Amino acid sequence: MTNFNDIKGFIFDLDGVIALTSKYHSQAWHQIADDLGVTWTKSLEDGLKGISRMDSLEMILKAGNKENDYTEEEKIKLAAKKNDNYLALIGNMNIDDLLPGIPEFLEDLMAHNYKICLASASKNSPIILKKLNLARYFPDVVDPSKLKKGKPDPEIYIRGAELLNLKPEECIGIEDAAAGIQSINGAGETSIGIGDTQELSAADILFSSTKDITLANIEAAMKVNA
Ligand code: BG6
Ligand code: MG
Repeated sequence: MTNFNDIKGFIFDLDGVIALTSKYHSQAWHQIADDLGVTWTKSLEDGLKGISRMDSLEMILKAGNKENDYTEEEKIKLAAKKNDNYLALIGNMNIDDLLPGIPEFLEDLMAHNYKICLASASKNSPIILKKLNLARYFPDVVDPSKLKKGKPDPEIYIRGAELLNLKPEECIGIEDAAAGIQSINGAGETSIGIGDTQELSAADILFSSTKDITLANIEAAMKVNA
């Protein structure tokens, strides 16, 4: 594994890493799955994490063997409906939806002059950053609408390193989804997974909670794995 002293930048996922919004994405899709008559399961829910809006819809339709039942136009309407559901759910969001330890970690990164970037698949991330008063930490945000491929493809994390003017091996990516870890690893960056050991077994470093993401813990984990 890369040496901790070579790390110059941190690239963050948003939903499920910085904020609890992953829960609202799931609820919004669950409503669509119910409308479509597709059974909502834990594995479908986990598989959707980190996946772009249209790719998520395709996964849901596939899970219900309905991938050929809708026209492109109908799919666009279904995706728009999911986004309406989502926007309604985040309507009352406030700083209580921030995950524990995240503001302190961002402050610490700034204090130590690390570069910071956002690599979320969500087109709603600028609104969320604003609502949570975090925009000042993220001068660099990858625009997911400019990408050819979504997570698990490495493109979004490669773009993140480029925005920071860093080499991939100088970056750490932080994710709560298996698709995101695959994207970070594919980009040649060090991956930190937040969550379940089994789901995120491909992560270089795993923490069970965002509370544990500190520079000291990351340095210690990189030494153990070296
Ligand atoms: C990811 C979420 O961050 O963004 C996914 O984990 C979501 O659940 C994806 O589908 C796209 O988000 P949006 O806001 O553009 O529909
Ligand atoms: Mg996520």
